[in-house]
Amino acid sequence: MSPLHVPLLALLIGSVLCQYEYDYYQGPVMMLGPPGPNCPVECECPVNFASAMYCNNRHLKSIPNVPFGIKYLYLQNNDIKDIKAAAFVNATDLRWLILDNNQITNGAVEKSAFEKLKSLEKLHINFNNLTEPVGPLAKTMNELKIMGNQMSKFPSGMLAGLENLTMVDLQGNALTTEGITGAFKGLKSLTYLDVSKNKLGKLPAGLPSSMEMLYADYNDIGSIPKEYIQKLPMLQYLRMSHNKLADSGVPYGVFNVSTLIELDLSYNKLQNIPEVNENLENLYLQVNQISKFDVSSFCKITGPVNYSKLRHLRLDGNNLTRTSVPDEAVNCLRMATDVMVETTD
Ligand SMILES: *[C@@H]1O[C@H](CO)[C@@H](O)[C@H](O)[C@H]1NC(C)=O
Ligand SMILES: *[C@@H]1O[C@H](CO)[C@@H](O)[C@H](O)[C@H]1NC(C)=O
Ligand SMILES: *[C@@H]1O[C@H](CO)[C@@H](O)[C@H](O)[C@H]1NC(C)=O
Ligand SMILES: *[C@@H]1O[C@H](CO)[C@@H](O)[C@H](O)[C@H]1NC(C)=O
Ligand SMILES: *[C@@H]1O[C@H](CO)[C@@H](O)[C@H](O)[C@H]1NC(C)=O
Ligand SMILES: *[C@@H]1O[C@H](CO)[C@@H](O)[C@H](O)[C@H]1NC(C)=O
Repeated sequence: MSPLHVPLLALLIGSVLCQYEYDYYQGPVMMLGPPGPNCPVECECPVNFASAMYCNNRHLKSIPNVPFGIKYLYLQNNDIKDIKAAAFVNATDLRWLILDNNQITNGAVEKSAFEKLKSLEKLHINFNNLTEPVGPLAKTMNELKIMGNQMSKFPSGMLAGLENLTMVDLQGNALTTEGITGAFKGLKSLTYLDVSKNKLGKLPAGLPSSMEMLYADYNDIGSIPKEYIQKLPMLQYLRMSHNKLADSGVPYGVFNVSTLIELDLSYNKLQNIPEVNENLENLYLQVNQISKFDVSSFCKITGPVNYSKLRHLRLDGNNLTRTSVPDEAVNCLRMATDVMVETTD
């Protein structure tokens, strides 16, 4: 029973255009008909999907009154600058509110604006002019997206009690470590948090143990607390590319977590390959300052049942060549389909 009965480690040279794909949730298929009896003239309410109201791409300056019974409201790509409570007095059934690509500022959001939205589950308010989050939001919320605004803070308690909130996307703001203190405390169901492209000096504190995906690319993070990942026992995807991580900021064994499937530490300042768990499948370390390929980073022991599950490993853009990869790597990385160590550009 030779463990050598495996394909030779493929050493690929080149560059990958897109190492992983983002999924963007698409709304229900649009099938428009004549407006329903209560549909505002500016909008369209499909005959065969009476609970949806499409008001997107219409140069609207304000939110039309939402009739009772509407569950899905599309208002993206307009010139909406404010949110007035009056538009929502009958919107107690509203589940989805999509407000992407408008010009909403916090000063123009009425304090009671969201009070009647007692059934709201998804709020997308990406690419507006917010400097802080809007709310308070209904306890029924499960998805909050405030990408591409100008928020520097996310006050503690804004999300308190949102027990079903699973997804929060805050990428592309100006959030600081101090500005998000306590922001995510008590969110029992949070699995997905994206704080990429902000100004964080540290990973967000106080995340719930339900976390599965944490994306913090493009920040100023220089270190990871020793127990940080151990406190997230479900974490599968951790992305921290384009930060300031050096070896001194990466405690020994910090990534030795058996749930982790993907780890992106590309575009940092690492000089060594950190120790990772055998279960890790995707490891991105391109464009660091690594000059040594140490098999023990992947396999403490190599044997018939002891080997790394790594499939994709990127080490291009470091101080490594094909000859830096020792022969025993073949056995340890026997699942690998893709190992890039050199750059040809
Ligand atoms: C709310 O519904 C009531 C009863 O149908 C109606 O009289 C009122 O005009 C509605 N308000 C708005 C803002 O749509
Ligand atoms: C929103 O921001 C854009 C771009 O920064 C700016 O052109 C626009 O005037 C702002 N709108 C408001 C209402 O502040
Ligand atoms: C959270 O979700 C569960 C399961 O869908 C549901 O029973 C519960 O009412 C929800 N809680 C809130 C506050 O909406
Ligand atoms: C990694 O974790 C395993 C199991 O929890 C443990 O046996 C091993 O010593 C750890 N290795 C390092 C480098 O921390
Ligand atoms: C290696 O495999 C043996 C079984 O052959 C197992 O008992 C041991 O825990 C494994 N060691 C590591 C470091 O995973
Ligand atoms: C790059 O690797 C070579 C060969 O291993 C080594 O001699 C050199 O010092 C390394 N350079 C840096 C900047 O680490």
